[in-house]
Amino acid sequence: MCGAMRLRVVALLLATATGAGAQSESLPPDSRCPRGLSPFSTPFCSELVAVPDLPGATGMMELRPVRSPFGVAVTPDGRLRTRIVLHVSSLPRPDSLGPYRRYVAWAYTITMDEELRLGVVTNGRNDVGEVPYEPFRVLIAAEGVRPAPARTGKLVLRATSPSALLLAHRDAVMNLTGRATVAGDRVSADEHAGHDMGGGWEMPPGDPRIAPMAMPHMTPGTPPFLPDSTGRLVTDARPREVVTLEDGDTLRLRAGLVRRTIGSRVFVMYGYNGQYPGPLVRVERGTEVVVMFKNDLDLPSTVHWHGLRLDNRFDGVPDLTQDPVAPGDSFVYRLRFPDVGVFWYHPHIREDLQQELGLYGNILVAARRAGERVPVNREEVLAIDDFLLGGEGAVPLGRDVPTHALMGRFGNVLLVNGEPDYALSVQAGEVVRFYLTNVANTRTFNLRIPGARLKLVGSDLGDYEREEWVESVPIAPAERYVVEAMFARAGTYALVNGVQWLDHMMGTFHAVEDTLGRVIVSPTPVRRSYASAFGQLRAHPEASSELSKLRAMALRPVDHTLTSGLKVRNVSPLVMMMLTGMAVPVDWNDGMPMMNWPLTGSEISWYLRDERGAENMDIAWRFRVGDVVRIRLVNDAASLHAMAHPIHFHGQRFAVIERNGVPNDNMVWKDTALLPAGETMDILLELTNPGTWMAHCHIAEHLGTGMMLTFVVEQ
Ligand code: C2O
Ligand code: CU
Repeated sequence: MCGAMRLRVVALLLATATGAGAQSESLPPDSRCPRGLSPFSTPFCSELVAVPDLPGATGMMELRPVRSPFGVAVTPDGRLRTRIVLHVSSLPRPDSLGPYRRYVAWAYTITMDEELRLGVVTNGRNDVGEVPYEPFRVLIAAEGVRPAPARTGKLVLRATSPSALLLAHRDAVMNLTGRATVAGDRVSADEHAGHDMGGGWEMPPGDPRIAPMAMPHMTPGTPPFLPDSTGRLVTDARPREVVTLEDGDTLRLRAGLVRRTIGSRVFVMYGYNGQYPGPLVRVERGTEVVVMFKNDLDLPSTVHWHGLRLDNRFDGVPDLTQDPVAPGDSFVYRLRFPDVGVFWYHPHIREDLQQELGLYGNILVAARRAGERVPVNREEVLAIDDFLLGGEGAVPLGRDVPTHALMGRFGNVLLVNGEPDYALSVQAGEVVRFYLTNVANTRTFNLRIPGARLKLVGSDLGDYEREEWVESVPIAPAERYVVEAMFARAGTYALVNGVQWLDHMMGTFHAVEDTLGRVIVSPTPVRRSYASAFGQLRAHPEASSELSKLRAMALRPVDHTLTSGLKVRNVSPLVMMMLTGMAVPVDWNDGMPMMNWPLTGSEISWYLRDERGAENMDIAWRFRVGDVVRIRLVNDAASLHAMAHPIHFHGQRFAVIERNGVPNDNMVWKDTALLPAGETMDILLELTNPGTWMAHCHIAEHLGTGMMLTFVVEQ
């Protein structure tokens, strides 16, 4: 049987298993279940299948969004939170089936070794709450009068979570290759790392926590690249400096080669001013400064000032706002800071390569009036990153095009401000305000500090309408969050990334927790305690007076729609099979590294498509200064290998007004927001800054395959 045939057979089997097309007429209008359900069409819906002797009973299991100030609601260990709604119809009276009085829904792990009673179910809509498993099953059974501690009665309906469809990968790959990798038979990372693959490439290290896939003889279709230090100045990298700039000041910023030591490897990376990260720039709102940029790299570069509503000609986008700065050349940027917030700068050429090798830095813009934020003991600006380290240093990058074009280059070393062992020393009782920026190529983090209470205060450009307590901070590439933490007692607190690892090959999830750094709290109590201010959640009237004007426009019709998706050329049936399947809303790890690594823009391309069918750079929207437009972003889960995209608009600010049809009750000004697979997000984009600007996915490798568009704002 040829590959394509087998694919169709598998798809058909899955279609039958999920009851394609069944039962959508009785769904309420706000349901996330599409009319005419097909397999892989949504990660938020599956069919309730009746037992054979009750053919009339039917229904849908819907996973409804849970609100969160981050947009994506996740548990501290990285499970996407959803509420389970069971839409049930045509169940007979329970007593017609035996000695039963009602129907009860139960949740199970996929292997059915744990059970949880969800509650009583009747015909119609039943909101039965959250399920703590992934993937999971739901069974509905007829029960007697007394609540039973376990399911005993007659089974009537059953469903598996949409994520269970991921298990199909394993089955399909087994069929296609005639061999399977089973859980007990994992190849260690070292066994497949370092093999000469030809073309100058070696297999990058794998992760022992996921099953490797049999993907022989695939290497990226571009030669490997590492910085070329011959004849160039290489300085020893040092930690960043803080630079406070006042109106009219000039900063000299030099991109060059640095020598770094990470994980006992000494190798050449890039750095701004020889530092990791680049200098932390502190300014007051309303300041204007000059940056004299010098490119001493072995590649052309530019500097983009992420999130600043600055003059278009200083936005740093090659061939749109300026020419690339050739090695040895310079460029003068003039920056202005109309907004309070935490911003960052990075190259806008080959971000996948230059940013990965260390080119990023933060800008903290404070209000001129003191007292806009309550006092804290300390402010810490943290750039959160990951880095892919091989046997001798950086795993080589693609010379001409990005590698890892599918999911982006996930690292195997987590860095805070460029350090694998970040440590902060504070005194007992301190309140610390953290300004977090995700500067990774693709990884979305879910950060928390077990033992410390976290208060969410702000995001990209300023404060939320109101503060909230949070358990963890899901932060996508290029997003920023401002959180305050109190360290009440002496001891060591860990900064951890708590996520659900998806093993694509096995179709399973497991909780993984990595430590990024530590906060060491000395027993000496802090002189000045801000505990009582910290204990209160405040509203931010300045933010809400601006944002409530936007809320008044919440009924504005959609001006433009952008749908994300993936196109594929020249790939084998095996790769095609792995790309076809249920999407997970957020990929926290690279669950298919041996397939992700060799794919480049020659095989795949990501797109944003507008309502007229124009894609990527063929989109050229026109607006006028003063416009506020509603843009609907749709992440089509039915597309190949749908995954979450952090979408960024240059030169303007926006607010997320609605997610999946649910209004946002706590807004904040953003320039980047995460669009999980299968979800819909409406933003109001405020056009205040004239020029020709870019919007794009901030996964560096997606941008590198063209996932970007332009829009013109006329005066
Ligand atoms: Cu930080 Cu065009 O982006
Ligand atoms: Cu993307």
